[in-house]
Amino acid sequence: MDDERPVRACMCTSLTFRVILGVARDRGYTKVEQLTELLGCGGSCGLCMPYLQRMLETGETEFAVIPRTDAR
Ligand code: FES
Repeated sequence: MDDERPVRACMCTSLTFRVILGVARDRGYTKVEQLTELLGCGGSCGLCMPYLQRMLETGETEFAVIPRTDAR
């Protein structure tokens, strides 16, 4: 595992951000809530929410851990 960018998926749904981003782009989604409604990602523990937001903003699919104080 790459320690620099260890976060790659919503663990609750077992969906990688790469897969989720593909769905978002295919459907023209711009909001995390749209992904939660369709796929469930972000809808359980919610820990992936800041990563999903950054994914939508930047197109990145691998992230360093976002400290909770930086999470939006
Ligand atoms: S990790 Fe995505 S909802 Fe729990």
